[in-house]
Amino acid sequence: MNDTIFSKVDNYISGLLAQETPAMKHAEELMEANHLPLIHISPVQGKTLQVLAKMCNARNVLELGTLAGYSTLWLADALPDDGKVTTIEYSEDYAAIATQNFSDAGISHKIDQRIGSATEILPVLKEEGKVYDMVFIDADKPPYKEYFDWAVALGRPGTIIVADNVIRNGAVLDANSTDEKVQGVQRLNAYLQDNEQVTAIILQNVGVKEYDGMVVAVVN
Ligand code: DHB
Ligand code: MG
Repeated sequence: MNDTIFSKVDNYISGLLAQETPAMKHAEELMEANHLPLIHISPVQGKTLQVLAKMCNARNVLELGTLAGYSTLWLADALPDDGKVTTIEYSEDYAAIATQNFSDAGISHKIDQRIGSATEILPVLKEEGKVYDMVFIDADKPPYKEYFDWAVALGRPGTIIVADNVIRNGAVLDANSTDEKVQGVQRLNAYLQDNEQVTAIILQNVGVKEYDGMVVAVVN
């Protein structure tokens, strides 16, 4: 979407209100140098996460899908110095780059990195008695509904849950899609319709990334 009005306005907004820190720019450089998929959130989305984190006075945040830790940096910067982001990543290679980014940014004390399958790690967090003020789901798409259930289970009334990539360039409109990522987010979106555990909406995202959308929900 790089030359569209949406992209130009996105840059206008980020120039005003969502400027990246040097650590964030460095994290992007390290991602590119290591040939990671460049599917991290945009600065405007990062600032949106920060606003939401402050709205719920977040101290403990859970992230599913660290990648290189770019969104983790945005989240960590919104927390008090004794706050923590627990961030789960399946790929050991990606997690190692994220560890480097957290260290380079000087925020390692605010990060609890968990490496492995979220499906296995989420029950462990529950056993540890963890409760999260905010959850950001940005991992593999097929189990999004199950990840959302875990976010509710690990939350409390008022916990904010955000799930990235639930519109997928509008592909969610195709009821016959055979794309497992599309099917995964369709399953979550439909599940939210009659879900009395949360109050939820989907915000469309247009701008410097592919056209997409985010679930924003609060636990009732
Ligand atoms: C994909 C995943 C993401 O988290 C994202 O922001 C964009 C694309 C993907 O797997 O296709
Ligand atoms: Mg994403």
